[in-house]
Amino acid sequence: MTGDDPEAFRARREALKARIDPLDKDMIDGGDRGAFFDTVYDMAGGDAAGVPWADLKPKQQLEQWLASNPGNGRTAIDIACGLGDNAEAMAAAGYRTTAFDLAEKAVSWARQRFPGSAVDYQVADLLNPPAGWNGRFDLVHECYTLQAVPPLMLQGMTAAIADLVAPGGTLLVYTRIRPDGSETSGPPWPLQERDAMGFASHGLQLVSRNAFELLRPDRKIPHWFCVWQKPEIG
Ligand SMILES: C[S@@+](CC[C@H](N)C(=O)[O-])C[C@H]1O[C@@H](n2cnc3c(N)ncnc32)[C@H](O)[C@@H]1O
Repeated sequence: MTGDDPEAFRARREALKARIDPLDKDMIDGGDRGAFFDTVYDMAGGDAAGVPWADLKPKQQLEQWLASNPGNGRTAIDIACGLGDNAEAMAAAGYRTTAFDLAEKAVSWARQRFPGSAVDYQVADLLNPPAGWNGRFDLVHECYTLQAVPPLMLQGMTAAIADLVAPGGTLLVYTRIRPDGSETSGPPWPLQERDAMGFASHGLQLVSRNAFELLRPDRKIPHWFCVWQKPEIG
């Protein structure tokens, strides 16, 4: 947490991003995405300005959805939770929430930011989740993980996310989006629309799709926030 004014925070973020970007490209070429995330969290040295995706607040679309869908003690999981803000919102809405990230530093940082949190923060790999997680969660939340991995990994990640959802459960997906067939020079790699719809081939049904743009001084960034449902068994 920084506690300083937004302008100073933004300036530090720009400076730190300039150090991260070349590293990002190198590690893609080297093929080790996990090492990249570890390095970003390490290099930030406790300053969230150094973590380009850290908003230090929950995503607005998630908060709005939670306001009309409280947990009432049901189970939830936040995939690749980063610094924990989305997971905290899920717990505050009454979900018994687990949150995990591959990067140990992210998990320890989240725990430190929210002492006494009701969230069960864990270090885990989406592609090799702990025994007992598959099919267990009434609510699964994915934000910016799919777009953060090379497109070759997309199918496996999509399947692993779908597997976590309990029968009758809900999956929320927040992602940058781009038209099918368009080029991208990630990272991040905004999902093609057909890839974002990939959960349908894992038996999930689309409940709603909110297309919106995040406005930046120099551009607009298209996003989707999708709500999916896994049918009950039988
Ligand atoms: C772009 S960040 C988004 C973090 C967070 N969801 C947010 O919106 O702030 C992507 C996160 O995915 C994590 N990650 C990447 N691959 C993962 C995997 N296989 N299992 C768990 N976490 C992973 C990274 O460590 C990183 O924290």
